[in-house]
Amino acid sequence: MTDKSALPQHVGIIMDGNGRWAKKRGLARTEGHKRGAEVFRAISTYCSDIGIPFVTFYAFSTENWKRPQQEVDVIMDIFRDFLHEAEDRQQENAERGFRFHFIGDLTVLPEDIRGLIDFMEANNPERYGTTVNVAVNYGGRAELTHAAQQIAAQVQTGELKAQDITEATIASHLYTANQPDPDLIIRPSGEYRLSNFLTWQSAYAEFWFSDVLWPDFTTADFDRALADYARRSRRFGGV
Ligand code: FPP
Repeated sequence: MTDKSALPQHVGIIMDGNGRWAKKRGLARTEGHKRGAEVFRAISTYCSDIGIPFVTFYAFSTENWKRPQQEVDVIMDIFRDFLHEAEDRQQENAERGFRFHFIGDLTVLPEDIRGLIDFMEANNPERYGTTVNVAVNYGGRAELTHAAQQIAAQVQTGELKAQDITEATIASHLYTANQPDPDLIIRPSGEYRLSNFLTWQSAYAEFWFSDVLWPDFTTADFDRALADYARRSRRFGGV
């Protein structure tokens, strides 16, 4: 990819297929998540290498709490490890221009994880190249509900008039406020669903699907998605 103008400004990625990857190898599902976390690191780094300004990874949905407690605990441990690592690599990440942001309803996460997230976000560099959003306890409908509650509260106090609510008002109350909408959404593992990911923001996104399971996903797969994206003609409802 040489033409930077053909690069998406924001890529959304649904990290799917970890369980199947592990099962195929006779491993515990959690081994798939551990490998998936490595791929998350590799693809984040690649986004920064090639100059993609925003990337959002779907790491844990509002529905994922239904999984066995042991699996949920391991995924939480993976987040802890990543956050400790971010603490240790603060300078290296800042030099690279990484800005990390956790999105979703974080209020129900274990307290130590919330503390680590607060610390990481407070120490994000002022100058950044790539923003990495990690969606945790995220659901697009829950996000819109939360936005509606905040906007209604402003109407109630008289701060805002109902007739002045615009699409921009709604967008500004989403977890991705001040970020461009995703241009491209990638879902590996042979599933063709959005699964409550970036519901509002994906209105005009291009979709790219692949049968590769997330733990096997490589920068070459990512390049294929980018090349396909660059060939698409986006008209946003025009001609
Ligand atoms: C979906 O695959 C994956 C998850 C619910 C967990 C994804 C989380 C990670 C990869 C860890 C990311 C780490 C950081 C630090 C952001 P699945 O289990 O539904 O797979 P299956 O459909 O094959 O069962």
